[in-house]
Amino acid sequence: MKGVILAGGTGSRLDPLTRVTNKQLLPVFDKPMIYYPIETLVNAGVTEILIVTSGSSAGDFLQLLGNGREFGIDHLGYTYQEGAGGIAEAIGLAEPFVGRDRMLVILGDNIIGGNIVQAARRFEAQPSGAKVLLTEVENPQAYGVAELDGDRIVQFIEKPERPPSNLAVTGIYFYDENAFDLVRQLDRSARGELEVTDLNNAYLARGEMTHDLLEGYWADCGESIEHYLQACNLVAEQGANRINPNPSGPAPSPVGRGLG
Ligand code: DAU
Repeated sequence: MKGVILAGGTGSRLDPLTRVTNKQLLPVFDKPMIYYPIETLVNAGVTEILIVTSGSSAGDFLQLLGNGREFGIDHLGYTYQEGAGGIAEAIGLAEPFVGRDRMLVILGDNIIGGNIVQAARRFEAQPSGAKVLLTEVENPQAYGVAELDGDRIVQFIEKPERPPSNLAVTGIYFYDENAFDLVRQLDRSARGELEVTDLNNAYLARGEMTHDLLEGYWADCGESIEHYLQACNLVAEQGANRINPNPSGPAPSPVGRGLG
């Protein structure tokens, strides 16, 4: 399985911090933000990684990360997104790298307290389709949200005014090789983007979407300056990307809780 980290976008919600650099290069406690999603992927056993970036600081990722050896990465590639046409558009740019393989996509501003090793194993055992990781938040209207009927997801809604649940879709997505064809079939949203929520709904319509609850805390650093600060404090106090020494035992605490 290949790894894809999305490190483009405008970072406008963290302006002026992001006026002269990419959001994912900002510090989170003692490391640049992008270190955390890289460690998440490597911990899950994914060591062939593509970084999708954009903007005028794109070259800084190369200077910072080089060939990725320091992280135990076997192959680190880079590509460039013109503008910020959406998360699904950025995923589409990974097609030459991923080919007919499966991929684990993680947003470059998402940090987790635990790890996704078990979820990755479950996805690998899945014959086809996609998997998302959900977590409970207090402000679901800021995220993609899952609407459930019992245990079954019936719909994903992007930043709903009246959220049908408090289960946010975290920025960690598992997709099979059909993702690129599905991205090609998406229409742009009202804000002119190819939305990852529409891609996830396309998998749902095929009956090929599974979900797990994320273990440990989840932080979307780009949501607001307050969330960015909270993420820095959480990492300082609790660390990030912790490997559970006993995967069948209790997950690292707190379990399944986003910052929202
Ligand atoms: O963090 C989880 C949330 O991420 C999900 O719950 C939402 O469904 C999903 O749409 C997304 O919402 P955000 O509003 O947080 O997305 P944002 O624009 O901040 O972009 C998230 C990451 O993706 C960020 O690291 C930048 C990157 N990105 C974003 C866009 C729009 C790209 O690489 N290219 C893009 O065109």
